[in-house]
Amino acid sequence: MATSYVLLLSLLALAFSHSLASDPSPLQDFCVADLKSTVLVNGFVCKSPQVVSADDFTFHGLDMPGNTSNPQGSAVTPVFVQQLPGLNTLGVSLARLDFAPYGLIPPHYHPRGTEIMTVIEGTLHVGFVTSFPNFQLFTQVVKKGDVFVFPQGLIHFQFNYGDTPAVAISGLGSQDPGVVLIPNAVFGSNPPINDAILAKAFQLDVKIIDYLQSKF
Ligand SMILES: *[C@@H]1O[C@H](CO)[C@@H](O)[C@H](O)[C@H]1NC(C)=O
Repeated sequence: MATSYVLLLSLLALAFSHSLASDPSPLQDFCVADLKSTVLVNGFVCKSPQVVSADDFTFHGLDMPGNTSNPQGSAVTPVFVQQLPGLNTLGVSLARLDFAPYGLIPPHYHPRGTEIMTVIEGTLHVGFVTSFPNFQLFTQVVKKGDVFVFPQGLIHFQFNYGDTPAVAISGLGSQDPGVVLIPNAVFGSNPPINDAILAKAFQLDVKIIDYLQSKF
């Protein structure tokens, strides 16, 4: 009985250690990022623990709304390792999402992290699409107090379903989850992807591709 309980706990611990964070596990209590170091490692090199202070673990201003005066009507305020150096090696981060009425965070994915989001104001229509071969769309309408999770690496979107502003807070399973905005990556790459390639991929006329590329 006791043995199986211990086994169960061990399995749970194992499962959680793999599901809560996709970044490598830390090898010390903390490794506050030295953002100015020119040494390149996976993540950032550590500041000397002797000069680390509570400020390295503190971020101010997530109570401030982001500026949603843009064509999408949305703004993301990241609290990733670049904004909060104490997050280095810890495998978590946070973001504030602001939406104007009918604002949208366009289809995108995070290459390095799952996203768990809670709505603190307004109502959002959210969804994600599974990978090949099913490409199944899962959508939900989430309101204040609701929580939704976007699995790591899957394309997802958040749309403000109402005529009032909306606000959400997301936790992400990486110190630096990264973001790939699908429209920008496909039609706004630098330099651009050859329009004949995109025309064939999307089965559209080259002129339509040129038009789409001109938008980015
Ligand atoms: C918000 O962004 C718009 C467009 O870039 C800009 O014109 C405006 O000044 C910004 N507002 C604030 C309060 O920063």
